[in-house]
Amino acid sequence: MTDILSSERIPGLVQASYIIAGVLFIVALAGLSKHETAKRGNIAGMVGMAIALLATLLLAARNASYDSSGRVVEVLGMVFAAMLVGGLIGAWKARTVEMTGMPELIAMLHSFVGLAAVLVGYNSFLEVADHSGLGGSDKVHAVEVFLGVFIGAVTFTGSIVANLKLSAKMKSAPLVLPARHLLNLLILLASAGLMVWFMLDQDESGLLPLGIMTVLALFLGFHLVAAIGGGDMPVVVSMLNSYSGWAAAAAGFMLSNDLLIITGSLVGSSGAILSYIMCQAMNRSFISVIAGGFGSDGTVSGEERDYGEHREVQADEVAELLAGAKSVVITPGYGMAVAQAQYPVAEMTRKLREKGVDVRFGIHPVAGRLPGHMNVLLAEAKVPYDVVLEMDEINDDFPDTDVVLVIGANDTVNPAAMEEPGSPIAGMPVLEVWNAKEVIVFKRSMATGYAGVQNPLFFKDNSRMLFGDAKDRVEDINRALG
Ligand code: TAP
Repeated sequence: MTDILSSERIPGLVQASYIIAGVLFIVALAGLSKHETAKRGNIAGMVGMAIALLATLLLAARNASYDSSGRVVEVLGMVFAAMLVGGLIGAWKARTVEMTGMPELIAMLHSFVGLAAVLVGYNSFLEVADHSGLGGSDKVHAVEVFLGVFIGAVTFTGSIVANLKLSAKMKSAPLVLPARHLLNLLILLASAGLMVWFMLDQDESGLLPLGIMTVLALFLGFHLVAAIGGGDMPVVVSMLNSYSGWAAAAAGFMLSNDLLIITGSLVGSSGAILSYIMCQAMNRSFISVIAGGFGSDGTVSGEERDYGEHREVQADEVAELLAGAKSVVITPGYGMAVAQAQYPVAEMTRKLREKGVDVRFGIHPVAGRLPGHMNVLLAEAKVPYDVVLEMDEINDDFPDTDVVLVIGANDTVNPAAMEEPGSPIAGMPVLEVWNAKEVIVFKRSMATGYAGVQNPLFFKDNSRMLFGDAKDRVEDINRALG
């Protein structure tokens, strides 16, 4: 065993494996950009991760055989024990989490990456400080440690706040402290000053500036995300995803691990690109997301305006309407996920297409609770990809559409975003379903959606409400369609 581990070839083999894993991660990301290739992308990612794990284990064993006077079995035993515990918890969580609970789980996972970067940073600093003190070329290492801990701490508390807001354990209204942007700026400036102090301090006394910065960064993460209102959380989740990638890349620099640098950068940049796309989709400024808060004054108007009376409809009337329609557009939202209505929706789509009705789907970029939420559900229920269109592709077609079925969507079809400048969702592009001839809204009550604002769509002359659980109501329609 020790003979194999002492082979000169091992570092080269590990580097080659890292390059192959890095390429497979890029192939995975490319695959995930389209429905048709998403499965292949996932497989590439899994193979890449398996190769990366094996190579890292091999490297850990080799390092242990050198550094720890042959305590290979002990070191590998610890690594395997950690993997076993983490793997079991991960497998249990993956099996039990509801699709609707994914965003908060993802936010929680981001917080672990942040915490890991903080711990790696402290460990890495103490190791160097113990042996030789910080000096000369170690200054570069000091910058790596400082930035790694900073990004990690911001990601850690920011992700915890996102988790609490998404799971409704914390108020989703934005926290608006006086002069909050100035406060954020002061924290950044103070951190820059602390970095200079940290770099000048050659030994363990560097712990003081590092510690003060950690507290400030923990507060900054909390404050940046707490300042953002519920409706804008999707962008924040993908922004935190990006931060967690940069935190991992920083940990890679501290550990001199190329694969962690590559993977962290891939996560960091793809998260940033996704945030940018989502900002464009929601008509928000990218800079103000990073700065925390969207320039909103913090008022979430649940304001009860009088929009008039709504009208109700029954499932069999809707079935009749659908059977006589030429074109139907379905705009699903979070309620479809809650009701798990995607299977009966797919069945209804099949039945209507068989009757010659042109059925298409219009997907809003932030429908549901995580990017691509609706696409995943519809793909799971085997709805053909070519009838699933994005908001921009379908918005102009509503005037020529006979019937729109709004299934468990609310904010994403709310005309207040275009008509009421004071609304918390003002300026966010929405699916303009009210331009169709008839609109049927599936929901259980007149309650508001995620952003907490009333929806004037429900009171328009061409809208009717089909109350009840979306799955039950779509099944009723399927029965009536025969
Ligand atoms: P929402 O505005 O969240 O509205 C969903 C509607 O579904 C609710 O009004 C609810 O009304 C209804 N509903 C819930 N359970 C139902 C059931 N079992 N059967 C039928 N209806 C049900 O949905 P949306 O249009 O998809 O908008 C998404 C919102 O979430 C946006 O504000 C977005 O910014 C935010 N958000 C999105 C993400 C991402 S990345 N997609 C992440 C976090 C937040 P009832 O209670 O009356 O049934």
